[in-house]
Amino acid sequence: MTRCDRTPAWGQMLALPRALRLDSLFASDPARAQRYTLEAAGLRVDLSKNLWDDATRDVLLSLAAQSGVLERRDAMLSGAPINATEGRAVLHSALRAPHDGSGAALFGGEVQAALDAMLAFAEQVRADAFTDIVHIGIGGSDLGPAMAVQALQPFVKSGLRLHFVSNVDGHDLAAVLPQLDAKTTLFIVASKTFTTQETLANAEAAKAWFAAQGGTDIARHFAATSSARDKAAAFGIRNTFGFWDWVGGRYSIWSVIGLPLAIAVGSQAFREFLAGAHELDRHFATAVPEANLPLQLGLLDVWYRNALGFSSRSIAPYHQGLRRFPAYLQQLEMESNGKCVDMDGEPLAYATSPVVWGEAGTNGQHAYFQMLHQGTDVVPVEFLAVRKPRYGFAPQGALAGLLKEQHRKLLANCLAQAQALMQGKRFDEALAEKPPTANPALAAEALARHRSFPGNRPSTLILLDELNPRTLGALIALYEQRVFVSGAIWGINSFDQWGVELGKQLCNALLPRLESGDASGLDGSTAAALAWLRT
Ligand code: F6P
Repeated sequence: MTRCDRTPAWGQMLALPRALRLDSLFASDPARAQRYTLEAAGLRVDLSKNLWDDATRDVLLSLAAQSGVLERRDAMLSGAPINATEGRAVLHSALRAPHDGSGAALFGGEVQAALDAMLAFAEQVRADAFTDIVHIGIGGSDLGPAMAVQALQPFVKSGLRLHFVSNVDGHDLAAVLPQLDAKTTLFIVASKTFTTQETLANAEAAKAWFAAQGGTDIARHFAATSSARDKAAAFGIRNTFGFWDWVGGRYSIWSVIGLPLAIAVGSQAFREFLAGAHELDRHFATAVPEANLPLQLGLLDVWYRNALGFSSRSIAPYHQGLRRFPAYLQQLEMESNGKCVDMDGEPLAYATSPVVWGEAGTNGQHAYFQMLHQGTDVVPVEFLAVRKPRYGFAPQGALAGLLKEQHRKLLANCLAQAQALMQGKRFDEALAEKPPTANPALAAEALARHRSFPGNRPSTLILLDELNPRTLGALIALYEQRVFVSGAIWGINSFDQWGVELGKQLCNALLPRLESGDASGLDGSTAAALAWLRT
């Protein structure tokens, strides 16, 4: 690998024209939409409304070649220990390789045996009398299954309720417990390390609640997913599904951490979910750079962050099932690429992870889209839309027609927002309008300045035919591999997360002080807050 800022292409990228105009780009190239749309694994991604042209793409492709991104990709996919600070391989892609695939060969069937055992248990739970599954985990041991179960709700076994508890704040668990019957509830404690404060606290509380309800059969009502079987056993759980240190927490949905999803949708659908991700992996591994979707997205991210200086990216899923997708992506991207030193520990002279944020469309439109359209910062937006809705039941009569119309409205909103960001509204257009709610005492020119939109704001449109296990798998894998690409270009280790340690250590040190009140040696602000909270 060569660090990006030491390649000739880096300087060329920074010297490229930045004042690109989307209207001119479309006017000068009638085939732009087609030429900038790529397809892979059932995903159709229109990159044409982004602030780049062929010259930009050529330089970015040179940057990828000179940085050695594809070599690093191959190293990752073949199991080299590319997570150097932890001395680990990065092989979540092996978890979704088919039975006869190279992934299985890498581990002599170990991966498939673990998957088969987890799926057999999932089927057993589905066939049992359980009504409620309570999944206790946090971060990568929560966000993936929580997001995916929500996204695939129409595929969830009817009558089965899934709950996700993550926060150490007891209000989280307390809101779930009253809904449960201990006799028909299964708790799954998910923690790769089985040391995470939040998860262990919730698991202890759940166990105490279970006992208070007269529950005694822990073996039947508690299971764990963890790579620390011994710690799960010490906690009292006999039924533990294990995984390996080469599966990063934020990449673990494909492992046994996906158990609640497998219980919810069944083993066949879970295998479809893996197959969709694998299809995307194959695309990433084999497509030429010009047509390689994760590569193009990752390069665009570098262009925006380092040349155009955009510090955030907004995710706008126009599908209610994907409302937790932005939160999932926050961990994926910001925990992976929020780093300020390179792989050798040398400080970086350029920016890395953008802030990733968002909310389901159309809700976001009525909250922060104002800033996206008229704020002083340019925030690239990623619109996600699904062609065919699926409600989990077949709407009849008038409802069927009304829901169809709602779906059209949803799609029209999505396309319109992307159009508005790109087109904007000129001053003279705003001046020609007579908005009924405007203050009549205001000069027309002043009002038109408030009502003009700069436009030329970039967006990407990701389209799925249907949101199902296969396309969801592909979608998540697309983001994983794209985050890999930008991280590799930046020359950082996208697979460690040392930045979460300090807060955990300080929390452990403060915890007894909340009990004792001892404020000795603390900074003034923390000491004052501690004193106030204890009164
Ligand atoms: O605090 C960050 C983190 O380590 C994440 O990387 C991880 O997904 C999460 O905590 C949960 O960790 P565990 O699965 O070990 O409980």
